[in-house]
Order: sequence, then structure tokens, then C-alpha cells
Amino acid sequence: MLNDMSKAISGENGSRNVIPQHVAIIMDGNGRWAQERRKPRLWGHKKGVESVRETVRSAAELGLKVLTLYAFSEENWGRPDDEVAGILSLLNTFIVRERNELDANNVRLTTIGCLQHLPEKTSKKVRETIDILQNNTGLILNIALSYGAKSEICYAMQNIGRDIAAGKVKIEDITPNFVDQYLWTKGLPDPDLLIRTSGEQRISNFLLWQIAYSELYFTPVYWPDFRKEHLLAAIQSFQNRQRRYGLLPEAPSSMPL
Ligand code: FPP
Repeated sequence: MLNDMSKAISGENGSRNVIPQHVAIIMDGNGRWAQERRKPRLWGHKKGVESVRETVRSAAELGLKVLTLYAFSEENWGRPDDEVAGILSLLNTFIVRERNELDANNVRLTTIGCLQHLPEKTSKKVRETIDILQNNTGLILNIALSYGAKSEICYAMQNIGRDIAAGKVKIEDITPNFVDQYLWTKGLPDPDLLIRTSGEQRISNFLLWQIAYSELYFTPVYWPDFRKEHLLAAIQSFQNRQRRYGLLPEAPSSMPL
């Protein structure tokens, strides 16, 4: 059942509001959230999983097509071993414990990033969950794991180069739509809205190609505090933007050109 704010956002009250198809989130601020409470950083990541759970539920309920979550970057491997192990362990637990609820909500799971760089135990569980949920037709939960946008683009370039060398592709074939087919996000629409929590205003090597025309939304809320109301506020902000894709704004019919 959608509450009043969700109804306004989804246009159920007669509004012409558009729900973004694809929302991507940089879940930031777990460490600071914990440190402000004099707790270990891992405590913040643990609380962050509750925000993941609620955000996935809300996204499914609102009818989003894709929710991409930046769970672990390539650069995150450089954090202390116990923090890396702790995040991976939270991921292991989430990916198994949430299977039933994800399935009940008709959610499909995909990943972007170097799954092969994760410990075998984790990648196996992720693959199992992907298989279990593969026939679902609702929200696509796309988790970025060991992800880096520059690497994604390099892999795409390497594969295009290989296909050119093999005579399967001509240099003139390389267009933006063509490159899309070589990225890990192949088949997914580009994000309409990119949210970053914690007050930081940077992209941190996330979906660099795909966010060319995304609307950006920065909130000071730390990820462990991020709840449905914050997602709705971000979507409302998105709905007040005018997306022009480099064109001119729509002129009212009475406006002289
Ligand atoms: C950024 O906060 C957060 C991460 C690097 C990890 C995010 C992981 C989770 C929320 C848990 C597992 C994920 C899923 C999908 C179940 P930070 O540590 O950089 O915070 P800081 O900037 O305050 O230090």
C-alpha cells in the first residue's frame, strides 16, 4: 500500500510525475556514522545493510526498473583486512538471508564489477542467488562488487579491440550505443538519478560512462540513516528537474522564438 507521499511521487493522485527507471546509489558515510557513535566502522556497515534492505523494498514498491548499489569498489580492497572481510561477510549473509524476500518481491539480481576477484565463497553465493531469482520480472537489483568504472571501460575497449582484430567489428561501428553493448551494464537503461549519501559530492569511479545525462542528488544523510523518506525526497527532487539532454527547454506555445 503506497502512502500519500509515494502516491504523489508515482502519479497515483493524477499528477504527471515520472518515476525514474533506474536509480543508482553511492552508499557513503557508514564509517563516519559509526565513529560519531564511538563504534567500530564495521558497525556502520552492519547498520548500512538495514538501509539496503529498506531501499530495495521501497524501490520494488515504487515500481523502479533498476536499482544499482555501489557496495564495494575496486579501491575498497585497499582498506584494512578486517574491514574488507567484514563487508564481504555482511554481503554473504545478505545475499543468502534475503533470497526469500527478494523472490517474494519479484526482484531479479545482477552484478557489475569483477566478481572473479571476490573470495570463491562469496562469488558462489552471489551466483546461486542470481540463478534462483533469474526468472523474476520486477525490480532488477544490480549490485556493484569490486567495481571500477575506468576498469569497466578498459575491459570494453580491450574486447572491442579483440573483435576488430578478429574481423568481427569495423572501427566505424564504434558508436555510443555500440560501446554500451560491451559494458557490464549491457541491457540496462542508463541511470536517470544518481544519489550519493553522506554529504560528499563526487562520483568516485562509479558508472562514468552511464551517468552522462543522469540527474545528480547529494544528501547529507549518512547511509545507515537512509530510509524510504530519503529515497522519496531524492525522487521528488528528480521530478522537479528539467532534463534537456543538451537541447533547448520546451517553449510555451505563446513564447516568441
Ligand atoms: C561506504 O561508506 C560504504 C562501503 C564502502 C560499503 C557499503 C557496504 C554495505 C552497506 C554493506 C554490504 C552491502 C550490501 C549490498 C548488502 P564508508 O565506509 O566509505 O564511510 P565513510 O566515508 O564515512 O568512511
